[in-house]
Amino acid sequence: MKSSDSTGATERRSLPHDLPAWQALAAHADRLRAIHLPSLFTSDPGRFARFSVGHDRLVLDFSRHAVDEAALGSLTQLAEQSGLQDAIEALFNGAHLNFTENRAALHMAARGSCPIPDGDADAVRATGERLRAFARALRSGKVTGATGRPIRRVINLGIGGSDLGPRMAVEALSRLRGHGPAVSFVANIDPLELDEALVGADPHTTLFIVSSKSFTTAETLANAHAARDWLVAALGADVDTSVHFAAVSNAPAAAAAFGIASERVFALPEWIGGRYSIWSTIGLPLMIAVGESAFDRFLEGGRSMDLHFRGSDFRQNIPVIMALLGIWNTDCLGIESLAVLPYAHGLRSFPAWLQQLEMESNGKRCLRDGTTSRVATAPIVWGGVGTVGQHAFHQLLYQGTRRVALEFIVPVGAGDTRGQILVENAFAQAAALMDGRDLAAAREILQARNVPDGEIERLAPHMVCPGNQPSTTLLLPDLNPYTLGQLLALYEHKVFAQGWIWGINSFDQFGVELGKEMARRIAGPHAGTRDASTDGLMAAAERLRKGL
Ligand code: F6P
Repeated sequence: MKSSDSTGATERRSLPHDLPAWQALAAHADRLRAIHLPSLFTSDPGRFARFSVGHDRLVLDFSRHAVDEAALGSLTQLAEQSGLQDAIEALFNGAHLNFTENRAALHMAARGSCPIPDGDADAVRATGERLRAFARALRSGKVTGATGRPIRRVINLGIGGSDLGPRMAVEALSRLRGHGPAVSFVANIDPLELDEALVGADPHTTLFIVSSKSFTTAETLANAHAARDWLVAALGADVDTSVHFAAVSNAPAAAAAFGIASERVFALPEWIGGRYSIWSTIGLPLMIAVGESAFDRFLEGGRSMDLHFRGSDFRQNIPVIMALLGIWNTDCLGIESLAVLPYAHGLRSFPAWLQQLEMESNGKRCLRDGTTSRVATAPIVWGGVGTVGQHAFHQLLYQGTRRVALEFIVPVGAGDTRGQILVENAFAQAAALMDGRDLAAAREILQARNVPDGEIERLAPHMVCPGNQPSTTLLLPDLNPYTLGQLLALYEHKVFAQGWIWGINSFDQFGVELGKEMARRIAGPHAGTRDASTDGLMAAAERLRKGL
């Protein structure tokens, strides 16, 4: 298949295990796998300075990983030998690196970091102008419902990349809402989510954005029809409910068929993947929530990270370093899970957004040449907001049987008392999870509590924490549109760099189609097309419904 890759980068793509650096990394891993992380600091007091990098007031501390200069050197050689620099340029130059769908991946163009594909520029510009005008009109109360009253509530109906990014960003920037309409999100087909969003909603002043790149996603379309039913029930069947809708989609004809006026349909270009689409028209709810200037600052932050990613040596390149450390932990040390721990209430939905970005992009095994990867690819990404997680799952990190790679994301903020405590907790967790607590220290604690000797020997083993959990800490000056843009672009590029080195396509998602197909099969006329378990469960569910 023609790769349409002007630089030939994808043709030269080597697979990691074929590269000389891969063998070197195996040797480094044998040497460093069991190293006691605190010893790396006792033997090198200047470790933080040498294993941290900065860009534009961001600080990345990766000193708490089981790497030394030699291992890091082999990791950067892996990136070089994989042709990553050429791949980065190919990405920004619109090469069809999405080689299964023969598309470019140009979400960076939506934030102004590279040209929009020839022939699309005028349409994209016109759509952007319409989108901004619509957001301005909504925020200024100039958009009215069917009965002439200004829209005061906007509900986004979308799922996956049509929900997670805008939802997370609206939460992260909630202090910027001002006097614009309330913006909320509904993703699940579970009726409860839409019902909850409609609590207190006035049908006269509520508008729904149907966000769906394909305009075929079952959950979103079901919710769109339920929303319309809600409007008709309240306003009457003779009312033109179309003025209570807008759509963001790559399928404008389908949106029109639903009854959404063309001037309210905002196209999402096919060269922007769903999970990368917040920078484009899928960002409409965010622009409505925080306003155009804040949205532009968000784009500027993304551009800042693009410049850093394209222009920095790999050893100083934040996304590349995070990508390489992820490969080191996953493939060399066998650490299979990555916990992302944002210490900011505003980033409480960041782990969910990152799960899609990382696991839908790199949760794959098939390589460019159609063979199956011989190395592990995306880790299990999970996490939760700090300090809340400290009172929930951190116990497993302290005394469980698994090593977990940790990524602390810490907006420093202005430093009011509670904010200061939040930041200090993040630092304390990273330190404690590395240092641990040995048996002698446990005994000392119990002795200091005047616990009888016999009890000390009984209890002390239960207080031991092995430590040695590797962690990255990313400091942001604070959480604002610019730093949020940097953060999202940072992870997009980290994921791209990893996918490139692994030899997989980070921009398709054929796997999830199987689940959708199976849902269609078991729901439809299916005599004999289901397995016995599904048949048994469907029958049991029917009995339970009858018994309700
Ligand atoms: O099923 C996965 C997926 O296609 C995601 O990639 C996408 O973000 C989501 O579903 C929603 O798709 P759409 O925007 O087309 O409704």
